[in-house]
Formats: sequence, C-alpha cells, structure tokens
Amino acid sequence: MSVGHENKIYGVYEKKVSEEYEKNISKPINVWEEFFADKRRGGHRSSAEEFLAMEAREKLFHLDGGKTLLDFGCGAGELLVYYAPEYEKTIGVDFSPSMLEEASKRIRERNCENTTLILADDKTVWDKLDSSFDRITAAGVFQYLTYQEIDEFILNASKYLNEGGKIVLFDMLDPRLYPLWKIGLFSQDKSCWKFLCKTFCGVRNTISSSLKNRPRDILGYSHNPNTIKKIANKNGFEMICVQSMYYEYKYHAIIFRK
Ligand SMILES: C[S@@+](CC[C@H](N)C(=O)[O-])C[C@H]1O[C@@H](n2cnc3c(N)ncnc32)[C@H](O)[C@@H]1O
Repeated sequence: MSVGHENKIYGVYEKKVSEEYEKNISKPINVWEEFFADKRRGGHRSSAEEFLAMEAREKLFHLDGGKTLLDFGCGAGELLVYYAPEYEKTIGVDFSPSMLEEASKRIRERNCENTTLILADDKTVWDKLDSSFDRITAAGVFQYLTYQEIDEFILNASKYLNEGGKIVLFDMLDPRLYPLWKIGLFSQDKSCWKFLCKTFCGVRNTISSSLKNRPRDILGYSHNPNTIKKIANKNGFEMICVQSMYYEYKYHAIIFRK
C-alpha cells in the first residue's frame, strides 16, 4: 500500500495501515515481520536525539547527495527525519505497522512534507513505487534478509535507480567482528569472568540456533562483505565497504554502477 501522492502521510495514514494489515493478516508471516510487528524503535545504541543526529550525519556523508531517496526499513523514522531536509523527495518503507505509525508521528512533528511512507516488504515494495531514485538506502535492515533476498533486492533496486545513483546499505553485521563484540571484546569492562560467561553463552546460543535453523539472536544474520560484493558485481555494480563509525562490529556497503 502506498501512503503517498494521493494520501500523503498524516490523518488517513493510520487507518490505511490497519486496513492493509487486516487484509494481509491471513498471509504467512515471516519470523522478522512477526518480531517487528509491534516494535516502535530502531534499536540504536542510544535513542537520544543528539546521538541520532550524529548517526544521521555520518550516513548523509556516505549518501553523498542526490535529490530523491528511498529509505528501505525506515523503522520509526529516526534517521529518515534527518535525511528528509536534505532531499527533494524521500520515501520510507517498512513492513511493521507500529514502526510506520511512529515514523508518521515523527514526520508530522518535523513537518517533513516531502516524505511519504509505504507499508511493504522487500518483495512487495517495487510494485508500489511510481518513480526511481538517486539513492536507495537501508540502515540496520539487511541482517534480516538472506543472501538470496539481498541478491533479489539489489536486482530490483537497480531497476529503480537513476543514472549515477547509489544503493547504500548501512550497518551490515560483520561476521568477523560481531562474535568479538558479542563476547564483550570492545566493552570498557573487560573482566575475565564476564568474558568467559559471554563466550560460553555465545557458543551455546550458536549451537542451539543452528540446530533449530533460526538466527542466533534478534540482531539477525551477519553477512560477509566479500559475498555482498560478489552479489553487487553480479548485478553490474561496484561496491566499497567502510567501517561503521558508531558500531564497531558493523560495516556499510556503498554500491554504485561500474
Ligand atoms: C533495526 S530496525 C532499523 C530502522 C531504521 N532503519 C533505523 O535505522 O532507525 C530494522 C527495520 O527494518 C524493518 N524490516 C526488516 N526486514 C524488513 C523487510 N523484509 N521488509 C521491510 N521492512 C523490514 C523492520 O520492521 C524494522 O523497522
């Protein structure tokens, strides 16, 4: 459902979302859609506005201009409201009605009149768009997609990307650094006992989740940057990988045409 153009955001938005949600309630729901269905925050390291503003500044630096932007998995709009003033047109997409409700409030509070929200997932979003973009971005979202879904996303995104456009995937979980962060290696408090406990819990969770064929924790899957690069190349793109400034165990994938 596109909550845009004819409806813009605001008033009718909440009603439209709930109608769409009711309509879709019978379709099989994936584990992450279920997980996010009632969430209202994007899980940033801090929810303080000062921190979100810093994070958004880093992301705007890597987005590096453009006039139109699609924020896939925009969540509660915590970054989107910082992107909006820098673009002529911004669209936020998410499959979580509660997240979009929060995003809608934020957008209203900040008077981001150039912003439209769409309730959709990585498969359904493309049919709901009526224009292409200079930037297609996602922050902290791709850990909820498999490699195959990422491949399909990049292929679809390439059809909605303007000439000179970029796909910028922020905060991908780095499989080399994430386990080290999980056991507390980057923490200020490096007590030996805590380190051992976390290592033990980490190993136990990894074994039990792989036996149940489920992701290890709510942070989803980690993705090897080299594999993401191969996927980008296969779809006719170059990719550069940069370290996330605020999350030691995450990286950004900046994807652009060869
Ligand atoms: C960790 S939150 C990040 C939100 C936002 N990007 C931010 O940085 O504040 C991840 C968001 O991605 C959304 N999401 C995850 N997988 C998705 C999918 N396949 N389609 C649409 N949204 C998805 C979730 O609903 C959630 O709002």
